[in-house]
Amino acid sequence: MMYYLFNENIVRASDALVPVTDLALLRGYGIFDFFRLIGHKPLFIDDHVDRFFRSASKLRLQCPLSGPELISSIMEMLQRNRIKDSGVRLVLTGGPSPNGYSIGQPTLFAINEPITPLPESHFSEGIKIITCEYLRDIPEVKTINYLMGIYKMPEIQAADALDVLFHWKGMISELTRSNFYIVNQEGAIVTPATGILEGITRKKVLGLAADFFTVDARPLHLDEVYAAKEAFITGTTKKVMPVVNINGHLIGNGKPGTTTRKLQFLFQEYIEDFLGGH
Ligand SMILES: Cc1ncc(COP(=O)(O)O)c(C=O)c1O
Repeated sequence: MMYYLFNENIVRASDALVPVTDLALLRGYGIFDFFRLIGHKPLFIDDHVDRFFRSASKLRLQCPLSGPELISSIMEMLQRNRIKDSGVRLVLTGGPSPNGYSIGQPTLFAINEPITPLPESHFSEGIKIITCEYLRDIPEVKTINYLMGIYKMPEIQAADALDVLFHWKGMISELTRSNFYIVNQEGAIVTPATGILEGITRKKVLGLAADFFTVDARPLHLDEVYAAKEAFITGTTKKVMPVVNINGHLIGNGKPGTTTRKLQFLFQEYIEDFLGGH
């Protein structure tokens, strides 16, 4: 039996029930965060909980638990479930709305779910993606709105791609669930600085990259992407994943490049050090 956090309590999964009048269901108003466990150890939980509270405050949602209370409730849920290599999804919704539009008393829940590992070939050989002209609403907030990404799934699958890269009039932002980077012909790592969710993986990877490479967080146009030596994405489950084909254009020689491979190695080492210290 699985246990979830629901408002202030740990309950059986089947008892975690959000009212149908919740603003998340009626209007898509809510925020979330997601982190993974390696073995039984949560990875970067403090960063994820901080971002969860930042997202909540941007959308004027009051969490019923404080940060330390939330972390200790999550740990209790994990203790009860004891599933290895799982993920934790924290959600805070607009709550049951008195009139179907104004914010109610937010509903908090946390789900502990198994994670299916991504195929190793995605990391070793790279992935193919397509593009779409779209900018997420309030992109700096991790909202529950993944409408465009899910809507685009049939097109993504028809192109034998893994995901969709968003741009607005050619200016790149991010993918549905990951941040985006190129390595340009000068060897610099370039990544968009605005119109994005600041990923926790992005923060860690850029920190590691700064010791070895020039890092440029600035506006990035699709033309520059096609001319890049390498491209890659980062995210909680995707870690550092090479991108070798965009809309049918090969990036560089169509194989993961040395900079991407170095970052994969540095990030893996960083995770192992982090877990060793926790
Ligand atoms: C829109 C968006 N951008 C970027 C990311 C990557 O963030 P993180 O590295 O914290 O997983 C996510 C994560 O799900 C996301 O939803």
